[in-house]
Amino acid sequence: MSLGTFSAMVVSETAPKSFERRIVKRSVNDLPPGELLLRVHYSSLNYKDAMSATGRPGVTKSYPHTPGIDAAGVVEEDASGRFKPGDEVIVTGYDLGMNTAGGFGQYIRVPAAWGVPLPAGLSLRESMVIGTAGFTAGLSVYRLAAAGVAPAAGEILVTGATGGVGSIAVGILARAGYRVVAATGKASEEGYLKDLGASEVIDRQTVTEGAERPLLKERWAGAVDVVGGATLATVLKATRYGGVVTCCGLVGAPDLPVNVFPFILRGVSLLGIDSVQCPAGPRLEVWQRLAGSWKPAHLEETVTEVTLQTLEPAIAAILAGQVRGRTLVNLLAS
Ligand SMILES: NC(=O)c1ccc[n+]([C@@H]2O[C@H](COP(=O)([O-])OP(=O)(O)OC[C@H]3O[C@@H](n4cnc5c(N)ncnc54)[C@H](OP(=O)(O)O)[C@@H]3O)[C@@H](O)[C@H]2O)c1
Repeated sequence: MSLGTFSAMVVSETAPKSFERRIVKRSVNDLPPGELLLRVHYSSLNYKDAMSATGRPGVTKSYPHTPGIDAAGVVEEDASGRFKPGDEVIVTGYDLGMNTAGGFGQYIRVPAAWGVPLPAGLSLRESMVIGTAGFTAGLSVYRLAAAGVAPAAGEILVTGATGGVGSIAVGILARAGYRVVAATGKASEEGYLKDLGASEVIDRQTVTEGAERPLLKERWAGAVDVVGGATLATVLKATRYGGVVTCCGLVGAPDLPVNVFPFILRGVSLLGIDSVQCPAGPRLEVWQRLAGSWKPAHLEETVTEVTLQTLEPAIAAILAGQVRGRTLVNLLAS
């Protein structure tokens, strides 16, 4: 890499609704305005990145564009004075990788307020194994705990358990002392989920059994849901009195076909989780817990590592729901 130029994935719309991804050389001077210039060491692949990289509606409005909602690296310059050159910083969410050139490039330039100092206890690599998916899992557990769901309350269900959010949620909950039940469509991954800390692994189809009934037998003290649709609706109907369910995703469906009974007869709470605009206070606190008492014990077991040059098949795989755990993008080796 010569001074001022770097490699990045650039997605272009070559014909209406037809998108092409190429790895090209870009200039630091062409990055958007912002106080913080970061040399990106690692990024990660999230579902949203695959949507941006393939032109799916709702993420990126204009192309050409460099996706990557996650980046961790070393400060080159910060005009705000908040960080000094050489500091290690994490940037996730806000507009990164949406309509601001993202972490699938070896440099990003962003507002300094988007940066989180890398907490002691995490390496840059580990922070991106966690990435937005793991931060979202952390935020979900943080909200469950703040709502009063303690490990003694009972079983916590994690849906989409082999995915990015699910895998890290299983690890965090187990580390924090909860009994975790992991729901998956991949029966072959039972061993993987148990290694991460799940006490029990169930087929995702059993979660939606009885979906047509108004209420189900109480089972879950809490749940971390990434699926939405009938899955989330059925989980709510099977949540125990006073239980809490978090909702962050829509890999199954964006609708929520539920009635009011879980809420008005059992006092169940449904908490929305948004990692993108999460305020700085809880953002820092969740990262600090992820670096400390919540750091998943088997983080490396969740990782598949790629470079910009080998990212393409992973994009198709995550859209097809076939990825296990987290995909780390190594920008130093790209
Ligand atoms: N709100 C936020 O701030 C936020 C942040 C990050 C992610 N998200 C959202 O959270 C969701 C999960 O993200 P992720 O990065 O974990 O994605 P991911 O790695 O692709 O994992 C999703 C998992 O869900 C399961 N799944 C896939 N298709 C399914 C279907 N049709 N029905 C039921 N289960 C299905 C699969 O796990 P199994 O095979 O184990 O069932 C899959 O591995 C996405 O919708 C993403 O956009 C939201």
